[in-house]
Amino acid sequence: MQFLADDDRNQSMTFRAPAKGLSGRVAVPGDKSISHRALMFSALAVGESRVEGLLEGEDVLATAAALRAMGARIERDGEGVWHIAGVGVGGLLQPQQALEMGNSGTSTRLLMGLLASHDLTATFTGDASLSKRPMGRVIEPLSRMGAEFTATPGVKGSQTLPLTMRGLVPAVPIEYRLPVASAQVKSAILLAGLNTPGITRVIEPEATRDHSERMLRGFGAELTVEQDGEGARIISIRGEAELRPQHILVPGDPSSAAFPLVAALIVPGSDVTITGIGINDTRIGLVRLLQAMGGDIELLDVRDEGGEPVADLHVRASRLRGVENDPADVPSMVDEFPVAFVAAALAEGRSVFRGLEELRVKESDRIAVMAQGLRAIGARVEETEDGLVIDGTGGEPLAGGGPIATHLDHRIAMSFAVAGLASRNGVTIDDMRPVETSFPGFAPLLNRIGAGVEA
Ligand code: S3P
Repeated sequence: MQFLADDDRNQSMTFRAPAKGLSGRVAVPGDKSISHRALMFSALAVGESRVEGLLEGEDVLATAAALRAMGARIERDGEGVWHIAGVGVGGLLQPQQALEMGNSGTSTRLLMGLLASHDLTATFTGDASLSKRPMGRVIEPLSRMGAEFTATPGVKGSQTLPLTMRGLVPAVPIEYRLPVASAQVKSAILLAGLNTPGITRVIEPEATRDHSERMLRGFGAELTVEQDGEGARIISIRGEAELRPQHILVPGDPSSAAFPLVAALIVPGSDVTITGIGINDTRIGLVRLLQAMGGDIELLDVRDEGGEPVADLHVRASRLRGVENDPADVPSMVDEFPVAFVAAALAEGRSVFRGLEELRVKESDRIAVMAQGLRAIGARVEETEDGLVIDGTGGEPLAGGGPIATHLDHRIAMSFAVAGLASRNGVTIDDMRPVETSFPGFAPLLNRIGAGVEA
Protein backbone atom coordinates (compact mmCIF):
# COMPACT_ATOMS: atom_id res chain seq x y z
CA MET A 1 0.00 0.00 0.00
CA GLN A 2 1.11 3.53 -0.70
CA PHE A 3 0.47 6.52 1.47
CA LEU A 4 0.79 10.17 0.65
CA ALA A 5 4.01 11.97 1.27
CA ASP A 6 4.01 15.75 1.41
CA ASP A 7 6.20 16.00 -1.65
CA ASP A 8 4.18 13.73 -3.95
CA ARG A 9 2.28 15.30 -6.84
CA ASN A 10 -0.95 16.95 -5.73
CA GLN A 11 -4.32 16.29 -7.33
CA SER A 12 -5.88 19.72 -7.49
CA MET A 13 -9.60 19.99 -8.34
CA THR A 14 -12.17 22.78 -8.71
CA PHE A 15 -15.79 22.48 -7.52
CA ARG A 16 -18.36 24.87 -9.01
CA ALA A 17 -22.06 25.61 -8.58
CA PRO A 18 -24.08 23.20 -10.73
CA ALA A 19 -26.56 24.64 -13.26
CA LYS A 20 -29.50 23.18 -11.34
CA GLY A 21 -30.24 21.56 -7.99
CA LEU A 22 -28.73 18.23 -6.92
CA SER A 23 -31.13 15.30 -7.15
CA GLY A 24 -31.35 11.53 -6.90
CA ARG A 25 -30.63 8.64 -4.53
CA VAL A 26 -27.10 7.69 -3.52
CA ALA A 27 -25.38 5.43 -1.02
CA VAL A 28 -22.09 6.43 0.63
CA PRO A 29 -19.29 4.00 1.57
CA GLY A 30 -19.32 2.00 4.80
CA ASP A 31 -18.77 3.48 8.23
CA LYS A 32 -15.10 4.00 8.99
CA SER A 33 -15.32 3.49 12.76
CA ILE A 34 -17.35 0.29 12.40
CA SER A 35 -15.08 -1.01 9.62
CA HIS A 36 -11.92 -0.70 11.74
CA ARG A 37 -13.63 -2.45 14.63
CA ALA A 38 -15.13 -5.18 12.44
CA LEU A 39 -11.64 -6.11 11.24
CA MET A 40 -10.01 -5.92 14.66
CA PHE A 41 -12.65 -7.89 16.56
CA SER A 42 -12.90 -10.48 13.78
CA ALA A 43 -9.13 -10.90 13.89
CA LEU A 44 -9.47 -11.85 17.58
CA ALA A 45 -12.38 -14.26 17.19
CA VAL A 46 -11.79 -17.98 16.83
CA GLY A 47 -12.96 -18.92 13.32
CA GLU A 48 -14.09 -17.03 10.23
CA SER A 49 -16.09 -13.79 10.29
CA ARG A 50 -17.72 -12.18 7.24
CA VAL A 51 -18.00 -8.44 6.77
CA GLU A 52 -20.25 -6.83 4.16
CA GLY A 53 -20.09 -3.17 3.22
CA LEU A 54 -16.60 -2.67 4.67
CA LEU A 55 -15.16 0.76 3.89
CA GLU A 56 -12.32 0.11 1.43
CA GLY A 57 -10.54 3.37 2.22
CA GLU A 58 -6.86 3.75 3.01
CA ASP A 59 -7.40 4.09 6.77
CA VAL A 60 -9.25 0.78 7.04
CA LEU A 61 -6.81 -0.92 4.68
CA ALA A 62 -4.00 0.17 7.02
CA THR A 63 -5.77 -1.68 9.84
CA ALA A 64 -6.19 -4.75 7.62
CA ALA A 65 -2.51 -4.73 6.63
CA ALA A 66 -1.39 -4.46 10.26
CA LEU A 67 -3.63 -7.35 11.37
CA ARG A 68 -2.36 -9.47 8.49
CA ALA A 69 1.21 -8.70 9.51
CA MET A 70 0.35 -10.16 12.92
CA GLY A 71 -1.18 -13.41 11.69
CA ALA A 72 -4.85 -12.80 10.83
CA ARG A 73 -6.01 -14.00 7.42
CA ILE A 74 -8.03 -11.27 5.73
CA GLU A 75 -9.39 -11.66 2.20
CA ARG A 76 -11.93 -9.96 -0.03
CA ASP A 77 -14.00 -12.21 -2.31
CA GLY A 78 -15.33 -11.42 -5.78
CA GLU A 79 -18.61 -10.09 -4.36
CA GLY A 80 -16.83 -7.57 -2.16
CA VAL A 81 -17.43 -9.55 1.06
CA TRP A 82 -14.47 -9.65 3.45
CA HIS A 83 -13.53 -12.91 5.17
CA ILE A 84 -11.42 -12.76 8.30
CA ALA A 85 -9.94 -15.83 9.98
CA GLY A 86 -9.20 -14.76 13.54
CA VAL A 87 -6.35 -15.94 15.76
CA GLY A 88 -8.19 -15.79 19.11
CA VAL A 89 -7.83 -13.18 21.87
CA GLY A 90 -4.15 -12.89 22.76
CA GLY A 91 -3.11 -14.80 19.64
CA LEU A 92 -1.59 -12.06 17.47
CA LEU A 93 2.01 -12.64 16.44
CA GLN A 94 5.08 -10.46 16.54
CA PRO A 95 5.07 -8.29 13.35
CA GLN A 96 8.27 -8.50 11.35
CA GLN A 97 8.14 -4.88 10.18
CA ALA A 98 6.92 -1.52 11.42
CA LEU A 99 3.14 -1.13 11.24
CA GLU A 100 2.45 1.67 8.73
CA MET A 101 -0.62 3.57 9.88
CA GLY A 102 -0.73 6.14 7.07
CA ASN A 103 -3.15 8.93 8.04
CA SER A 104 -5.21 6.87 10.48
CA GLY A 105 -5.48 7.87 14.13
CA THR A 106 -8.15 5.23 14.74
CA SER A 107 -5.93 2.39 13.46
CA THR A 108 -3.05 3.61 15.60
CA ARG A 109 -4.80 4.17 18.88
CA LEU A 110 -7.04 1.09 18.75
CA LEU A 111 -4.20 -1.21 17.69
CA MET A 112 -1.98 0.15 20.47
CA GLY A 113 -4.75 -0.88 22.86
CA LEU A 114 -5.09 -4.27 21.26
CA LEU A 115 -1.35 -4.96 21.46
CA ALA A 116 -0.89 -3.60 24.99
CA SER A 117 -1.95 -6.99 26.39
CA HIS A 118 -0.03 -9.10 23.84
CA ASP A 119 3.45 -10.45 24.34
CA LEU A 120 5.02 -8.60 21.41
CA THR A 121 6.81 -5.45 20.34
CA ALA A 122 5.51 -3.26 17.54
CA THR A 123 6.64 -0.02 15.92
CA PHE A 124 3.99 2.37 14.61
CA THR A 125 4.73 4.86 11.84
CA GLY A 126 2.49 7.31 10.02
CA ASP A 127 2.31 10.17 7.53
CA ALA A 128 3.16 13.79 8.28
CA SER A 129 -0.32 14.52 9.65
CA LEU A 130 -0.54 11.45 11.91
CA SER A 131 3.02 12.00 13.17
CA LYS A 132 1.91 15.28 14.74
CA ARG A 133 -1.12 13.87 16.56
CA PRO A 134 -1.06 13.29 20.34
CA MET A 135 -0.60 9.68 21.44
CA GLY A 136 -0.10 10.56 25.13
CA ARG A 137 -3.82 10.04 25.64
CA VAL A 138 -3.44 6.29 24.97
CA ILE A 139 0.14 5.94 26.24
CA GLU A 140 -0.95 7.04 29.70
CA PRO A 141 -3.68 4.44 30.41
CA LEU A 142 -1.93 1.65 28.48
CA SER A 143 1.27 2.24 30.46
CA ARG A 144 -0.75 1.80 33.64
CA MET A 145 -1.80 -1.57 32.27
CA GLY A 146 1.85 -2.48 31.80
CA ALA A 147 2.71 -1.55 28.19
CA GLU A 148 6.00 0.22 27.57
CA PHE A 149 6.46 2.89 24.94
CA THR A 150 9.68 4.20 23.49
CA ALA A 151 10.05 6.87 20.89
CA THR A 152 11.89 5.91 17.75
CA PRO A 153 14.69 6.71 17.28
CA GLY A 154 15.14 7.12 20.99
CA VAL A 155 13.76 10.62 21.64
CA LYS A 156 12.95 10.33 25.33
CA GLY A 157 9.38 11.07 26.32
CA SER A 158 8.10 11.77 22.81
CA GLN A 159 4.39 11.10 22.52
CA THR A 160 4.05 11.23 18.75
CA LEU A 161 4.78 8.65 16.05
CA PRO A 162 7.04 6.93 15.28
CA LEU A 163 6.68 4.98 18.53
CA THR A 164 7.59 1.46 19.59
CA MET A 165 5.52 -0.35 22.16
CA ARG A 166 6.00 -3.53 24.13
CA GLY A 167 2.89 -5.24 25.47
CA LEU A 168 2.64 -7.08 28.76
CA VAL A 169 1.15 -10.50 29.51
CA PRO A 170 -0.68 -10.69 31.78
CA ALA A 171 -1.57 -7.00 31.67
CA VAL A 172 -2.96 -5.22 34.71
CA PRO A 173 -6.68 -4.36 34.74
CA ILE A 174 -7.37 -0.70 35.46
CA GLU A 175 -10.26 1.62 36.15
CA TYR A 176 -9.79 4.75 34.07
CA ARG A 177 -11.77 7.98 33.87
CA LEU A 178 -11.36 9.55 30.43
CA PRO A 179 -9.83 13.03 30.68
CA VAL A 180 -10.91 13.80 27.06
CA ALA A 181 -14.13 12.67 25.39
CA SER A 182 -12.57 10.17 22.98
CA ALA A 183 -14.01 6.97 21.58
CA GLN A 184 -10.53 6.04 20.43
CA VAL A 185 -9.08 6.17 23.94
CA LYS A 186 -12.11 4.35 25.38
CA SER A 187 -11.81 1.64 22.73
CA ALA A 188 -8.05 1.28 23.17
CA ILE A 189 -8.53 0.49 26.87
CA LEU A 190 -11.42 -1.93 26.22
CA LEU A 191 -9.35 -3.71 23.58
CA ALA A 192 -6.43 -4.02 25.99
CA GLY A 193 -8.93 -5.34 28.55
CA LEU A 194 -9.95 -8.21 26.25
CA ASN A 195 -6.76 -10.11 27.03
CA THR A 196 -6.32 -8.85 30.59
CA PRO A 197 -7.48 -11.12 33.43
CA GLY A 198 -10.22 -9.51 35.55
CA ILE A 199 -12.35 -6.42 35.00
CA THR A 200 -11.08 -3.41 33.05
CA ARG A 201 -13.27 -0.36 33.51
CA VAL A 202 -13.57 2.89 31.57
CA ILE A 203 -15.61 5.81 32.89
CA GLU A 204 -16.68 8.32 30.28
CA PRO A 205 -18.22 11.54 31.58
CA GLU A 206 -19.46 12.47 28.07
CA ALA A 207 -20.91 9.77 25.83
CA THR A 208 -18.86 9.09 22.68
CA ARG A 209 -19.61 6.72 19.81
CA ASP A 210 -20.45 3.33 21.28
CA HIS A 211 -19.67 0.99 18.37
CA SER A 212 -16.99 -0.86 20.35
CA GLU A 213 -19.40 -1.64 23.15
CA ARG A 214 -22.16 -2.82 20.80
CA MET A 215 -19.87 -4.94 18.68
CA LEU A 216 -17.85 -6.47 21.51
CA ARG A 217 -21.11 -7.65 23.05
CA GLY A 218 -22.18 -9.01 19.65
CA PHE A 219 -18.91 -10.96 19.48
CA GLY A 220 -19.73 -12.49 22.88
CA ALA A 221 -17.54 -10.43 25.23
CA GLU A 222 -18.80 -9.93 28.77
CA LEU A 223 -19.28 -6.16 28.71
CA THR A 224 -21.64 -4.04 30.79
CA VAL A 225 -22.58 -0.37 30.62
CA GLU A 226 -23.98 1.46 33.65
CA GLN A 227 -24.59 5.10 34.49
CA ASP A 228 -23.46 6.80 37.66
CA GLY A 229 -25.36 9.54 39.50
CA GLU A 230 -23.79 12.26 37.33
CA GLY A 231 -24.71 10.59 34.05
CA ALA A 232 -21.21 9.25 33.33
CA ARG A 233 -21.09 5.90 31.54
CA ILE A 234 -19.20 3.11 33.29
CA ILE A 235 -18.10 0.44 30.85
CA SER A 236 -16.69 -2.79 32.24
CA ILE A 237 -15.18 -5.65 30.28
CA ARG A 238 -14.10 -9.01 31.61
CA GLY A 239 -10.93 -10.57 30.30
CA GLU A 240 -9.70 -12.92 29.21
CA ALA A 241 -12.53 -12.94 26.73
CA GLU A 242 -13.42 -15.40 24.02
CA LEU A 243 -14.87 -13.92 20.85
CA ARG A 244 -17.13 -15.82 18.47
CA PRO A 245 -16.97 -15.07 14.73
CA GLN A 246 -19.75 -12.87 13.36
CA HIS A 247 -21.46 -11.78 10.15
CA ILE A 248 -21.31 -7.98 10.11
CA LEU A 249 -23.21 -5.55 7.90
CA VAL A 250 -21.48 -2.16 7.91
CA PRO A 251 -23.95 0.74 7.55
CA GLY A 252 -23.25 3.82 5.42
CA ASP A 253 -21.02 6.31 7.23
CA PRO A 254 -22.95 9.29 8.65
CA SER A 255 -19.66 11.23 8.63
CA SER A 256 -19.39 10.70 4.86
CA ALA A 257 -23.12 11.30 4.28
CA ALA A 258 -22.54 14.71 5.89
CA PHE A 259 -21.02 16.05 2.64
CA PRO A 260 -23.82 15.30 0.16
CA LEU A 261 -26.25 16.17 2.97
CA VAL A 262 -24.94 19.72 3.42
CA ALA A 263 -24.45 20.07 -0.34
CA ALA A 264 -28.16 19.30 -0.90
CA LEU A 265 -29.15 21.85 1.76
CA ILE A 266 -27.11 24.71 0.29
CA VAL A 267 -27.47 24.13 -3.48
CA PRO A 268 -30.81 25.75 -4.40
CA GLY A 269 -33.47 23.42 -5.77
CA SER A 270 -31.86 20.20 -4.46
CA ASP A 271 -33.77 17.06 -3.44
CA VAL A 272 -31.51 14.13 -2.53
CA THR A 273 -31.90 10.83 -0.66
CA ILE A 274 -28.85 9.22 0.92
CA THR A 275 -29.63 5.59 1.62
CA GLY A 276 -28.62 3.14 4.37
CA ILE A 277 -26.95 5.58 6.77
CA GLY A 278 -26.09 4.70 10.37
CA ILE A 279 -28.13 6.92 12.68
CA ASN A 280 -26.68 5.82 16.01
CA ASP A 281 -27.44 8.69 18.44
CA THR A 282 -23.77 9.04 19.29
CA ARG A 283 -23.05 9.91 15.64
CA ILE A 284 -25.78 12.15 14.25
CA GLY A 285 -25.38 15.42 16.10
CA LEU A 286 -24.96 17.07 12.69
CA VAL A 287 -28.47 16.10 11.60
CA ARG A 288 -29.84 17.57 14.83
CA LEU A 289 -27.82 20.78 14.36
CA LEU A 290 -28.86 21.22 10.72
CA GLN A 291 -32.51 20.63 11.62
CA ALA A 292 -32.18 23.32 14.31
CA MET A 293 -30.85 25.61 11.55
CA GLY A 294 -34.02 24.98 9.54
CA GLY A 295 -32.65 22.19 7.36
CA ASP A 296 -35.30 20.00 5.76
CA ILE A 297 -34.00 16.51 6.62
CA GLU A 298 -36.26 13.48 7.09
CA LEU A 299 -35.19 10.08 8.40
CA LEU A 300 -37.05 7.50 6.32
CA ASP A 301 -37.43 3.74 6.72
CA VAL A 302 -35.70 3.60 10.10
CA ARG A 303 -34.53 0.03 10.66
CA ASP A 304 -31.99 -2.08 12.55
CA GLU A 305 -29.11 -3.66 10.66
CA GLY A 306 -26.72 -5.88 12.57
CA GLY A 307 -27.15 -4.08 15.89
CA GLU A 308 -26.97 -0.51 14.53
CA PRO A 309 -29.94 1.75 13.64
CA VAL A 310 -30.02 2.73 9.97
CA ALA A 311 -32.23 5.08 7.86
CA ASP A 312 -32.45 6.81 4.50
CA LEU A 313 -31.87 10.55 4.77
CA HIS A 314 -34.16 12.64 2.56
CA VAL A 315 -32.86 16.19 2.26
CA ARG A 316 -34.13 19.25 0.41
CA ALA A 317 -32.50 22.64 -0.15
CA SER A 318 -33.39 24.92 2.76
CA ARG A 319 -33.04 28.45 4.04
CA LEU A 320 -30.69 27.95 6.94
CA ARG A 321 -30.53 30.14 10.06
CA GLY A 322 -27.47 30.74 12.25
CA VAL A 323 -27.14 28.50 15.30
CA GLU A 324 -25.24 28.07 18.56
CA ASN A 325 -24.01 24.55 19.14
CA ASP A 326 -24.51 22.74 22.44
CA PRO A 327 -20.99 21.83 23.63
CA ALA A 328 -22.45 18.64 25.18
CA ASP A 329 -23.31 17.48 21.66
CA VAL A 330 -19.75 17.84 20.31
CA PRO A 331 -18.75 14.14 20.49
CA SER A 332 -21.80 13.15 18.42
CA MET A 333 -20.61 15.28 15.49
CA VAL A 334 -16.92 15.70 16.22
CA ASP A 335 -15.89 14.93 12.62
CA GLU A 336 -18.72 16.94 11.05
CA PHE A 337 -17.85 20.45 12.24
CA PRO A 338 -15.84 21.40 9.12
CA VAL A 339 -18.87 20.85 6.89
CA ALA A 340 -21.22 22.35 9.52
CA PHE A 341 -19.09 25.52 9.29
CA VAL A 342 -19.78 25.58 5.54
CA ALA A 343 -23.52 25.36 6.21
CA ALA A 344 -23.18 28.20 8.75
CA ALA A 345 -21.28 30.33 6.22
CA LEU A 346 -24.36 30.22 3.96
CA ALA A 347 -26.99 30.61 6.71
CA GLU A 348 -28.76 33.77 7.67
CA GLY A 349 -27.23 35.45 10.73
CA ARG A 350 -24.53 34.49 13.17
CA SER A 351 -23.46 31.00 14.22
CA VAL A 352 -21.35 30.47 17.31
CA PHE A 353 -19.44 27.21 17.72
CA ARG A 354 -17.86 26.42 21.11
CA GLY A 355 -16.23 23.56 22.94
CA LEU A 356 -14.30 22.33 19.90
CA GLU A 357 -10.76 22.09 21.36
CA GLU A 358 -10.49 18.50 20.09
CA LEU A 359 -10.74 19.74 16.50
CA ARG A 360 -7.25 21.19 16.83
CA VAL A 361 -5.73 17.69 17.12
CA LYS A 362 -7.56 15.93 14.27
CA GLU A 363 -5.93 15.20 10.89
CA SER A 364 -5.23 18.96 10.84
CA ASP A 365 -6.04 21.84 13.18
CA ARG A 366 -9.58 21.99 11.83
CA ILE A 367 -10.47 25.25 13.59
CA ALA A 368 -7.53 27.19 12.13
CA VAL A 369 -7.58 25.52 8.70
CA MET A 370 -11.34 26.04 8.25
CA ALA A 371 -11.16 29.67 9.44
CA GLN A 372 -8.36 30.43 6.99
CA GLY A 373 -9.98 28.63 4.06
CA LEU A 374 -13.47 30.02 4.63
CA ARG A 375 -12.08 33.56 4.75
CA ALA A 376 -10.18 32.91 1.53
CA ILE A 377 -13.44 32.09 -0.25
CA GLY A 378 -15.30 35.12 1.07
CA ALA A 379 -16.93 33.97 4.33
CA ARG A 380 -16.94 36.13 7.45
CA VAL A 381 -15.30 34.09 10.18
CA GLU A 382 -13.66 34.81 13.50
CA GLU A 383 -11.50 32.17 15.18
CA THR A 384 -11.71 31.69 18.94
CA GLU A 385 -9.69 29.38 21.16
CA ASP A 386 -12.31 26.64 21.10
CA GLY A 387 -14.38 27.36 18.01
CA LEU A 388 -15.54 29.78 15.33
CA VAL A 389 -17.99 32.64 15.01
CA ILE A 390 -19.43 32.75 11.51
CA ASP A 391 -21.63 35.44 9.97
CA GLY A 392 -23.51 33.77 7.14
CA THR A 393 -24.42 35.15 3.73
CA GLY A 394 -28.15 34.45 4.14
CA GLY A 395 -28.13 32.05 1.22
CA GLU A 396 -26.09 34.18 -1.22
CA PRO A 397 -23.31 32.11 -2.78
CA LEU A 398 -19.80 32.56 -1.42
CA ALA A 399 -17.30 34.27 -3.73
CA GLY A 400 -15.08 31.18 -4.08
CA GLY A 401 -11.35 31.03 -4.81
CA GLY A 402 -8.48 28.96 -3.51
CA PRO A 403 -6.44 26.88 -3.82
CA ILE A 404 -7.42 25.70 -0.35
CA ALA A 405 -4.59 23.95 1.52
CA THR A 406 -5.97 20.66 2.85
CA HIS A 407 -2.98 19.68 5.06
CA LEU A 408 -3.48 15.93 4.38
CA ASP A 409 -6.99 16.20 5.85
CA HIS A 410 -9.77 14.44 3.92
CA ARG A 411 -12.58 16.28 5.67
CA ILE A 412 -11.06 19.69 4.91
CA ALA A 413 -10.89 18.72 1.23
CA MET A 414 -14.51 17.51 1.13
CA SER A 415 -15.88 20.45 3.14
CA PHE A 416 -14.42 22.97 0.71
CA ALA A 417 -15.58 20.88 -2.24
CA VAL A 418 -19.12 21.27 -0.86
CA ALA A 419 -18.55 25.01 -0.38
CA GLY A 420 -17.53 25.20 -4.04
CA LEU A 421 -20.98 23.90 -5.06
CA ALA A 422 -22.48 27.04 -3.48
CA SER A 423 -19.95 29.59 -4.79
CA ARG A 424 -19.91 32.17 -7.60
CA ASN A 425 -16.47 31.36 -8.99
CA GLY A 426 -15.81 27.83 -7.78
CA VAL A 427 -13.46 26.61 -5.05
CA THR A 428 -10.15 24.96 -5.90
CA ILE A 429 -8.78 22.32 -3.53
CA ASP A 430 -5.01 21.91 -3.61
CA ASP A 431 -5.07 18.13 -3.25
CA MET A 432 -8.02 15.71 -3.28
CA ARG A 433 -5.98 12.55 -2.63
CA PRO A 434 -6.52 12.54 1.16
CA VAL A 435 -10.20 11.84 0.44
CA GLU A 436 -9.17 8.24 -0.34
CA THR A 437 -8.65 7.65 3.40
CA SER A 438 -12.40 7.69 4.12
CA PHE A 439 -14.48 8.32 1.00
CA PRO A 440 -13.28 6.59 -2.18
CA GLY A 441 -15.45 7.74 -5.09
CA PHE A 442 -16.38 11.09 -3.52
CA ALA A 443 -16.35 13.22 -6.71
CA PRO A 444 -18.10 10.57 -8.87
CA LEU A 445 -20.80 10.28 -6.17
CA LEU A 446 -21.37 14.05 -6.28
CA ASN A 447 -21.66 13.74 -10.05
CA ARG A 448 -24.32 11.05 -9.72
CA ILE A 449 -26.55 13.65 -8.04
CA GLY A 450 -25.69 16.24 -10.68
CA ALA A 451 -22.73 18.20 -9.30
CA GLY A 452 -20.97 18.26 -12.67
CA VAL A 453 -17.46 18.01 -11.20
CA GLU A 454 -14.69 17.81 -13.79
CA ALA A 455 -12.21 15.22 -12.55
C1 S3P B 1 -13.23 7.64 16.06
C2 S3P B 1 -13.33 8.53 17.12
C3 S3P B 1 -13.17 9.98 16.96
C4 S3P B 1 -13.29 10.41 15.50
C5 S3P B 1 -12.52 9.52 14.57
C6 S3P B 1 -13.00 8.08 14.68
C7 S3P B 1 -13.38 6.21 16.34
O1 S3P B 1 -11.89 10.33 17.42
O2 S3P B 1 -12.84 11.75 15.35
O3 S3P B 1 -12.67 9.95 13.23
O4 S3P B 1 -13.57 5.43 15.38
O5 S3P B 1 -13.33 5.83 17.51
P1 S3P B 1 -11.59 10.71 18.97
O6 S3P B 1 -11.74 9.50 19.77
O7 S3P B 1 -10.16 11.18 18.96
O8 S3P B 1 -12.56 11.79 19.29
